[in-house]
Amino acid sequence: RGSELDAVYDEALSNEFGLIASNVAEPNVLIGLLEGASRAKSDLLLQLSEGACRFAGNGDARAGLTALSGYIEAVADRYDIGVFLNMDHQTNVEFIEYQLDREIPSSIMIDASSEPFEENVRITREVTSMAEAKDADVLIEAELGQIKGAEDGIEVDDAFYTDPEQAVEFVDRTGCDLLAISVGTQHGVAKGKDLELRPDLAGEIREALRDHGLDIPLVLHGSSGVQPDQLRTMLSHGICKVNKDTRYQYEYTRTALDHYETNRDAIVPPNEHLNGRESFFNETEWTPNKDHFDPRVSGRLIRERIADVHAELAEVSGSAGRS
Ligand code: G3H
Ligand code: ZN
Repeated sequence: RGSELDAVYDEALSNEFGLIASNVAEPNVLIGLLEGASRAKSDLLLQLSEGACRFAGNGDARAGLTALSGYIEAVADRYDIGVFLNMDHQTNVEFIEYQLDREIPSSIMIDASSEPFEENVRITREVTSMAEAKDADVLIEAELGQIKGAEDGIEVDDAFYTDPEQAVEFVDRTGCDLLAISVGTQHGVAKGKDLELRPDLAGEIREALRDHGLDIPLVLHGSSGVQPDQLRTMLSHGICKVNKDTRYQYEYTRTALDHYETNRDAIVPPNEHLNGRESFFNETEWTPNKDHFDPRVSGRLIRERIADVHAELAEVSGSAGRS
């Protein structure tokens, strides 16, 4: 729940570590993350975007959210670590209300960062007020500044840094619990092409907030590919949530690709056996090898790879050993 997650962030702020916020859209990534976090003895922060919900629900985000959150809860129950759910990059206030009414996530990000400042404040305030009115045990994250790149259908062309003084006004007026800032990271694979990464800007934003009694956890989006030394600097400047999606997507596909390339000849029939046949099961002297094409075989490899990557990232972000 939000209050338990808030306690983790309090600890993170004072001890300068961060939770890796990992996007998840299907079971193999989820189980890999649970295994990796459990091995690292780290709490786990999972994220669902609206796109991931729509994908799981075959177009119906509410159905997908119900299915994914139920699955996550059932599987996570076996693990002896804190597992939290964040709703990533939400833009639809009605969908947020649906989440609040069902008390599904521990935190929700309202992303109105592409709007002009006043409109960003208005929309974010609408969401924080809604959460307050419903007395929901949910933290609200908002974003100020623009992070370039494409993330789950949201495309941003013009990146700009977060201004520390504007951040103070924004947090003061919206009452958000966490603030996502733009310090030069980018969503997706094209990293560092437009803005130079400015890890110290996180420190300037934190200082400004602190001066006004607003010492809230800061969030880094577009963190796949940020080097460990740069990340450590930002962790020491109040970054407590480190969003990563692209890295896991890459590891997933690369692991599957390696498996299928290596075992291609045992799965795909040689040309001389094709002869227009649709099936090779007991019909010719050549049969494909189920030990290679059963999706659970590549699925297990994906789980192991995601677990290894996540356990390593939990070490870098300092959350390992703290659950
Ligand atoms: O909200 C999700 C993250 O910001 C994704 O960042 O594209 O670097 O993995 P990434
Ligand atoms: Zn993001």
